[in-house]
Amino acid sequence: MPQNGVCIRTNHLNKTFGPIPAVRDLDLEVHEGSRFGLLGPNGAGKTTTVRILSGLLIQTSGTATVCGFDINTHRDKIKAVTGLLPETPGLYSKLSAVEFLEFIGALNGYSKDASHRRIDQLLAILGLESRQDDLLESYSSGMKQKVLVASTLLHEPKLVFLDEPASRLDPSASALVKELILALAEETATTFFVCTHQTSLAEDICDVIGIIINGQLMTLGSPQEIIATAKAANLEKAYLKIVGGKVDRQALLAWRA
Ligand SMILES: Nc1ncnc2c1ncn2[C@@H]1O[C@H](COP(=O)(O)OP(=O)(O)OP(=O)(O)O)[C@@H](O)[C@H]1O
Ligand SMILES: [Mg+2]
Repeated sequence: MPQNGVCIRTNHLNKTFGPIPAVRDLDLEVHEGSRFGLLGPNGAGKTTTVRILSGLLIQTSGTATVCGFDINTHRDKIKAVTGLLPETPGLYSKLSAVEFLEFIGALNGYSKDASHRRIDQLLAILGLESRQDDLLESYSSGMKQKVLVASTLLHEPKLVFLDEPASRLDPSASALVKELILALAEETATTFFVCTHQTSLAEDICDVIGIIINGQLMTLGSPQEIIATAKAANLEKAYLKIVGGKVDRQALLAWRA
């Protein structure tokens, strides 16, 4: 299907939950091989956008194509060529990391041999080999997150959606995931769509950033463009200017009066 270098294209995409508009009139283009970051406050519509684009949720109106497939008619094809790390993922805690990844590999049509090569590589990269046969119920939350990141990448997707990938990771694990994303983007031209609150993560890995507030895309550009336009020192300060993150200390303490 012709895509002309465009991996995701949305056209007037809307999603409402009853009276709540979660995504409003979203027009977006994400290029193949790009690392796109979607930033925004809690409840801004990031997860809803990812759920629509990954084929898990039906939009209220508008259209989109993902990897050249229409979200209305080819959800199964989209699921086959994309990977998703959901915001609140589920794990089978009575399986070991290897068993869980074998299961995910089988769901994606991989033979045990084929998935094993990749499982071994991913577990080694993520530093989990020594614990790979332990049950997942014995893993810390960050270790579980690493297994989930591995499961997202196992079938070599063209496009990976990561919803808060580093939220439970320690700084060194977070750096590892950043490097993994950069290496995959460079070597395999995988496209990444990352939702995060961590402006430092976005600044380090994303080449294009969108800031969404109340379901509306307010800003789009490279981290450098956003920082320059907001006349800020870094992306965190630019984000706070755009989103309005000023804290009123007096109001915060007024409840004690
Ligand atoms: N299943 C649902 N039913 C009703 N409302 C929902 C549902 N899912 C999301 N919403 C609403 O849609 C809006 C956007 O939510 P969403 O989860 O997309 O935000 P988010 O940007 O991912 O936030 P966070 O940073 O907290 O993860 C919120 O107002 C939320 O309450
Ligand atoms: Mg979310």
